[in-house]
Amino acid sequence: MAFWFCCGKVSTRRRRGKEQPKWRVFSLKELHSATNNFNYDNKLGEGSFGSVYWGQLWDGSQIAVKRLKVWSNRAETEFTVELEILARIRHKNLLSLRGYCAEGQERLIVYEYMQNLSLHSHLHGHHSFECLLDWNRRMNIAIGSAEGIVYLHHQATPHIIHRDIKASNVLLDSDFRARVADFGFAKLMPDGATHMTTKVKGTLGYLAPEYAMLGKANESCDVYSFGILLLELTSGKRPIEKLNSTVRRSIVDWALHLVCEKKFSEIADPRLNGNYVEGELKRVVLVALMCAQDLPEKRPTILDVIELLKGESKDKFYHIENSEMFRSLLAVESNDETSVAEDSLDYISEEKELQRPLKGNN
Ligand SMILES: Nc1ncnc2c1ncn2[C@@H]1O[C@H](COP(=O)(O)OP(=O)(O)O)[C@@H](O)[C@H]1O
Ligand SMILES: [Mg+2]
Repeated sequence: MAFWFCCGKVSTRRRRGKEQPKWRVFSLKELHSATNNFNYDNKLGEGSFGSVYWGQLWDGSQIAVKRLKVWSNRAETEFTVELEILARIRHKNLLSLRGYCAEGQERLIVYEYMQNLSLHSHLHGHHSFECLLDWNRRMNIAIGSAEGIVYLHHQATPHIIHRDIKASNVLLDSDFRARVADFGFAKLMPDGATHMTTKVKGTLGYLAPEYAMLGKANESCDVYSFGILLLELTSGKRPIEKLNSTVRRSIVDWALHLVCEKKFSEIADPRLNGNYVEGELKRVVLVALMCAQDLPEKRPTILDVIELLKGESKDKFYHIENSEMFRSLLAVESNDETSVAEDSLDYISEEKELQRPLKGNN
């Protein structure tokens, strides 16, 4: 099987270098006992692959265990891809692998447990009413997750495209530091390549149009999804909002309209109660809209995004501020409300989040 081979290779390479691999093989028995037999009360979330459970090992350390729902060739591929990628990467803003288990038809991945669960749970889920995301945390999450993606796109060899950047795949540790997670759809990319696929994977509302329609995937698709995530983080709105039973409005159309009217304060999440840094909010929103442009060649790279978010490039920002796209209201007006035929898309991946108190937080 591919992953034995691949994990073995990575492990040997690390052993020769300075760093020892931090992951290991777990027995099913050990994971049963850590998760109280995969008890429903331990469930953290549910995704396309299966359920994720909270657990505690004999040494007291907390883990999250993703357990494959039903064995199939497709699921085995997803499991292998995620393991292969996780075993290669190590970065402060990417979720770390603790190990895996493959016994009979059981396939499980063991991760570090993220105490503050997903960004999605704080923006739209069970923790959204606790208002734990102040502006400073949001800025750090924006910059941190962008740094995780910089590692994938520009530092890992071969480069990695994630293909499912979204709020439920950005996890938050005990200090609310962002960790990009869920590499089940990711793709290893030889330099400068564009991956063509007939099986588009990803999530409605985050998919770059050239990927959704033509199956063309490269780094700029992740940049598009990241733009949507930035708008979500600033406004607290979902990527696609239901206005009534037939009409949907995308977060991009909504935000672009307000930017053209210079109404930045209306974009800010009401839960911030006006407590945010105006200049930073403007920066995040403009960068987000540059990322979420239809034409991939117009999007910045994730390296540009970091520079802009940190306010390090005054010249580049000046050009963005004065960009034509933020001046013409006409284009936006004709495109203000969009109908999205959700049923026609069979690549939608949905995730359920379970109600769970935040463990180990003050
Ligand atoms: N390490 C973790 N710590 C805490 N919660 C996690 C962890 N990993 C996953 N989760 C929860 O489970 C959900 C699904 O996990 P994910 O890896 O995205 O699986 P899938 O591939 O099925 O989408 C996440 O959105 C999150 O709520
Ligand atoms: Mg996921």
